[in-house]
Amino acid sequence: MRIGIIGPMDEEVSLLLSVIKDQRESEVGNHKYVEGTYLNHKVVLVKSGIGKVCAASAALVLILQFKVDAIINTGCAGGIGDGLKIGDIVLSTELAYHDFDLKIFGYKRGQVPSYEQCFKADMNLVNKAKDAADKLTAAGNFTPHVRLGTVLSGDQFIADKATCLAMKADFKNAQVTEMEGAAVAQVCEDFKVPCLVIRSVSDTAEGEAPEIFEKFVQLAADNSAKLLTALMAEL
Ligand code: ADE
Repeated sequence: MRIGIIGPMDEEVSLLLSVIKDQRESEVGNHKYVEGTYLNHKVVLVKSGIGKVCAASAALVLILQFKVDAIINTGCAGGIGDGLKIGDIVLSTELAYHDFDLKIFGYKRGQVPSYEQCFKADMNLVNKAKDAADKLTAAGNFTPHVRLGTVLSGDQFIADKATCLAMKADFKNAQVTEMEGAAVAQVCEDFKVPCLVIRSVSDTAEGEAPEIFEKFVQLAADNSAKLLTALMAEL
């Protein structure tokens, strides 16, 4: 399988860069794409940069130029689901934009005309990732709790409880908020490429989020990447 992997920041690709073999780098647009192998898979890893446009651009290049069979977006996120702790992981079942708003014309919050309110992740990838997580946990060397849910994306670092509550009111199963996942999912939907977003909680998107994020970004990014490597062993 040829797997495209998108991580927005250095912290979110560093573990993967240390395990991908036979690396070959090429530049497309403003991004470096690292082709290589992991177990029996061909992989193409890109640090996309932060935000929806960066992520969509990277996803499109992975699909059109590198012809990947699936895209997995890995990284950290602000946890908004009840009970989520730093380091816990959410596997996207669906994804939506929290900052796209045509409600005045009768659309739902986040809904892009001609799409549903939420983009769907590939449930085969979701279930395999959950199985991989259960195996890691059972082996005793993986402590994060892993749950399934809705991932919300927007071009905003969220650090405000009222904003989180409003998001949870509009998206019933919202678990995390980040800045790329739904854009990747939209591009994947356009090209019928299976997609999964794995995000580990670096902060809880409330008042202290910027400081807490700085402290836990690497831990969260590594948790997400670890689960991704375990998932690839299942594919
Ligand atoms: N990524 C990690 N934490 C985040 C937050 N609080 N808001 C948006 N993106 C994030």
